[in-house]
Amino acid sequence: MSAPAAPNEDLPTELPGVVVRRLTAVDAVRYRSVVRANAEHLGRDGDWQDEIAASIGDVEHRFGDAPDADRTFGIFEVGVLLGQVTLVHGAPPKWGLGYWLTDAATGRGVMTVSIRAVLTHARVTLGATEVLARVSHGNEASIAVLERLGFAPIARLTSSTRWRRVLS
Ligand SMILES: CC(C)(COP(=O)(O)OP(=O)(O)OC[C@H]1O[C@@H](n2cnc3c(N)ncnc32)[C@H](O)[C@@H]1OP(=O)(O)O)[C@@H](O)C(=O)NCCC(=O)NCCS
Repeated sequence: MSAPAAPNEDLPTELPGVVVRRLTAVDAVRYRSVVRANAEHLGRDGDWQDEIAASIGDVEHRFGDAPDADRTFGIFEVGVLLGQVTLVHGAPPKWGLGYWLTDAATGRGVMTVSIRAVLTHARVTLGATEVLARVSHGNEASIAVLERLGFAPIARLTSSTRWRRVLS
């Protein structure tokens, strides 16, 4: 595994004007303010309580460039931060996946195209071979995203289902 060659490069998506870019500590203040503004939306299924409670310092630390750091990509449209996709540093070449959109950005396919761009980056730049995601039971919008992207359910747990996509 190697670090991204150009961590701050805009990666295009299939939606014109929508790009993803790996976030750094410089983005922490803006990121936290978007999370706080969407706390009700993100708090609905309980998965994002730590994200909502995070301090700016927590976010700066998370966006650091340690070799074993998670890779969080901001989703931008004309400079506006619409959400994020995180490649969770699990056991490379296997990675985890986490994602959210602002309430206003849902319903347009933004997440589907953004994750697709990040998965291509993960495969080509990080040598990822497999990506795993965990979705709370009842989070139908998130399940629909994973199904559109070719993920398959592999384990039903107490409160969530684990999904996997093999990258080829
Ligand atoms: C999960 C979440 C990102 C899904 O957002 P989303 O907008 O439904 O997902 P997409 O961006 O892929 O958009 C899909 C919607 O756009 C529509 N769409 C329009 N053009 C599309 C296109 N080109 N491609 C795919 N979908 C398109 C789809 O029909 C769908 O609309 P529908 O829900 O009315 O059927 C969002 O609900 C969210 O942020 N939730 C809170 C956080 C969360 O649950 N994160 C995941 C934890 S596992």
